[in-house]
Amino acid sequence: MQLAIIGAGWVGVTTAAVFADIGHTVICADLNVERIQQLSTGQVPFFEPGLPTLLQKSLASGRLSFTANNAEAIKQAELVFCCVSTPTLADGRTDLNAITQVAQAFAQNHRAGAVLVIKSTVPAGTAATLRGYITESSQQPFAVASNPEFLAESTAIHDSMTPSRIVIGADEPATIDMIKRVYEPIIKNGAQVFTSDCATAEVIKTASNSFLATRISLMNQIANYAVQVGADPMGVAVGMGLDLRIGMVRPGVGYGGGCFPKDVEALLGEGERAGTVFTVLQAAQTANYFQRTRIYDRLSAALGGVAGKRIAIFGLAFKPKTDDVRDSPAVTLVDQLLHTGAQVVGYDPQVKSTIVNEHPGLVMATSALEAATGVDAVVLMCEWPEFKELDLSSLKQSMKGRILVDGRYVWSKKIIEDKGFIYVT
Ligand code: UGA
Repeated sequence: MQLAIIGAGWVGVTTAAVFADIGHTVICADLNVERIQQLSTGQVPFFEPGLPTLLQKSLASGRLSFTANNAEAIKQAELVFCCVSTPTLADGRTDLNAITQVAQAFAQNHRAGAVLVIKSTVPAGTAATLRGYITESSQQPFAVASNPEFLAESTAIHDSMTPSRIVIGADEPATIDMIKRVYEPIIKNGAQVFTSDCATAEVIKTASNSFLATRISLMNQIANYAVQVGADPMGVAVGMGLDLRIGMVRPGVGYGGGCFPKDVEALLGEGERAGTVFTVLQAAQTANYFQRTRIYDRLSAALGGVAGKRIAIFGLAFKPKTDDVRDSPAVTLVDQLLHTGAQVVGYDPQVKSTIVNEHPGLVMATSALEAATGVDAVVLMCEWPEFKELDLSSLKQSMKGRILVDGRYVWSKKIIEDKGFIYVT
């Protein structure tokens, strides 16, 4: 099928490469010319395991191309997948500016019978609103559908190729059938399809993220309690996770990134406007940001104050196997430490050293041991596999002090203490 993808971010680029790989002809558009030039030559402007290889394969097949002109992509497409970002405005509402522009471009350029498919995470009712805008200026038949994206950064290709579910919201059975045809090879591979109206599909997305975020906050409070009563927090998490109704939830310094914090905030606001007070979500949000203060307080107590101390931060990304630092707990800690007069050396396998431009005073090292050289304490904030594999004797020798703060319960307390460190969680 002939498809357009509008928006070349994590979701857009992955979706474009995957759709081309399963046999469709795909044009991916983004207004950022530099980004489009990079992607056209097979370079991915962010770190996502496996994506450069899949992108290059799809480009080589001749089925994937890029353009900086949305209209050009829309004109040719049977289905236009909208993957632009929907950030939060200062008043807490979702900024629908980019998505509205896509709807306007669709209205002016779409083929007869084309479908605008919303993959971006949006408040309930957005598809209906966009349908209204398009009806005002379109001369041709069209449909609007909601097909929320569930891929997670770091596993984006796997999540897209073998999703547990594909949610399709649309008013007409013919539109649902068209979207099912796009996913045919993936559905044949075992993905379940759930169909509904657009508003239901829209709520499924924000509610799923909010539910997952809430589980993490509850797990984090249980872990804090486990530390206080002398239980093993990770042992508690693994033991609970064996109950299939619960599943594994990893405790740590709280959720971050471009999705959970934003979607929890958005659902809280949307609920309030609709007359639903999400008290559980409010608590989950408060508990999440408490984790960040807590780790700072635990470090400060262990050091007897952080001012003038030299501290290494292991892992700056919001989770491993990504270079994304949006609302990252590690970055919050860096800022708190710099603000209170500590010297901070960061190390992350993928986060670019240009991060120092936004955090003056932060120094970036090129390895964990380099970051740890001469420090009073090391704080692990993101569980990249290489940190667990570090040679602890070399780490101890590099450091001046012996405080190891494990924000993600990566190490075993006993092993760390046997090596002569003070283990803080
Ligand atoms: C999340 C959802 O998992 C995706 O399904 C969704 O499509 C995506 O948001 C989105 O809305 O676009 P993502 O933010 O990439 O994906 O990452 P997750 O792996 O869900 O992690 C989110 C945060 O929760 C991270 O900070 C991570 O460290 C934390 N987390 C996750 C935990 O603390 N414990 C866990 O057990 C899992």
